[in-house]
Amino acid sequence: MFDMKTFAKVTVWGLIMVGLAGVGCDSNSGNSHEHPHDKARPGTYPSDYPDRIVVTWEQDPATSFSVTWRTDSTVSRTRALIAPASPAPKFHRNADTLAASTTTVQNPEENAPAANFHSITFDDLEPDSLYAYKVGYEGHWSEWFHMRTATEQTNQPFSFLYVGDAQNGIYSHWSRAIRQAYKEEPNAKFIVHAGDLINHKNRVTEWSEWSQAGGWIQGSIPNVAVPGNHEYLDYRVDDPQPELSIYWKPQFTLPTNGPKGLEETAYYIDYQNIRLIALNSNVQIEKQTQWLKKVLAKSDERWVIVTHHHPIYSSGEGRDNPDIRKQWQPLYEKHHVNLVLQGHDHTYARGMTRNTSRGSNTVDPSSGTVYVNSVSGAKMYSLKDNFWKGMGGVLQRSAENTQLYQVIHVRRDTLKYRAYTVTGQLYDAFDLVQQPDHRKTRMIDRTPDVQTRRHDNTIRY
Ligand SMILES: [Fe+2]
Ligand SMILES: [Fe+2]
Repeated sequence: MFDMKTFAKVTVWGLIMVGLAGVGCDSNSGNSHEHPHDKARPGTYPSDYPDRIVVTWEQDPATSFSVTWRTDSTVSRTRALIAPASPAPKFHRNADTLAASTTTVQNPEENAPAANFHSITFDDLEPDSLYAYKVGYEGHWSEWFHMRTATEQTNQPFSFLYVGDAQNGIYSHWSRAIRQAYKEEPNAKFIVHAGDLINHKNRVTEWSEWSQAGGWIQGSIPNVAVPGNHEYLDYRVDDPQPELSIYWKPQFTLPTNGPKGLEETAYYIDYQNIRLIALNSNVQIEKQTQWLKKVLAKSDERWVIVTHHHPIYSSGEGRDNPDIRKQWQPLYEKHHVNLVLQGHDHTYARGMTRNTSRGSNTVDPSSGTVYVNSVSGAKMYSLKDNFWKGMGGVLQRSAENTQLYQVIHVRRDTLKYRAYTVTGQLYDAFDLVQQPDHRKTRMIDRTPDVQTRRHDNTIRY
């Protein structure tokens, strides 16, 4: 029972503790002593424990994977352990130990402490095998994460997730997108992040929000990310030449097989029977066009999926990317790219290129490359009616004011695309069925009978 005597003791001790805390605060209250640690959410700044543990691929997903993590700058020598996963808890007796590479990032824009980012690529792994790994050093280890390599049986079915801009309300709102996506498809083999993961490229608080929202999911399912304009923007009025976020390359260990100078921002990954091409729609478009031509010409995979941030068909007034539409869209159609996964417009839009055949005005949106713009974070824009038409597109499904995530199932002959609201409601669906011709597909539209979500029939933004 909670009696008055206890209450008095608690109150007295409470007052003493508040008083002590107050003394502590007062001693630090001068601006000259103010430190960002005082205001930020716990975990924003690095400590001597590993955090922001992110799994990616730099090399072949069947035989390798990469991991990146952060500590404070006092920790320079960290390691990663890897072992075949086993139900027996002493599986770590079979672990190999690898020394990590370390990069120190000093953020010139914020009063933030330096951070060390550590990375490792595990290679020579067995295909289709479950591994356990952990990172850190004596007394400062992460938990063991499980990670499965891809199979070499290329037509084995699998699924993956795709999300548009996280960017705003990352911890408060994007968390529900990434977590609901995981609940929907816990066995997804990777997550495509189509740019604008954060709002300010070098803001440590936003990158920490991104890591904390995704948490251990990001250490368990490989992340395939492309930079958006916000990974290039810092909003400093005197910014002479936009440059990539100082955190991008230290935070992700991505392939370097793209055009020179665009390493880890433009690349491709072959996962079982798909070729996944990631492009950097912010810079050096022409250089990537030349590279893309070669990569597409040599793609024998049954499915080709492309991701970049800026859409081929924008969703709203004053938002148009004619350069990439002119340079990349004809290549997608020519090489029968199946899906183009994009972000940037903070709305949902899915459709195709108007494929009117020569001399006829027939519109057959039943086959061809499918383009999607989506959004997973909290910032919402408006759609402009008929906005795709003027650019040569045919819109098939759209939404405003809706956080979404997408689940894509890939089989030998069929690709099943499903978009869900973050409350878990199926919002858009279609299947692509391959035809005898190389990679050509027939679309089966399975849009559910759910009203199109617009600003005027949802909660005011
Ligand atoms: Fe955005
Ligand atoms: Fe953007």
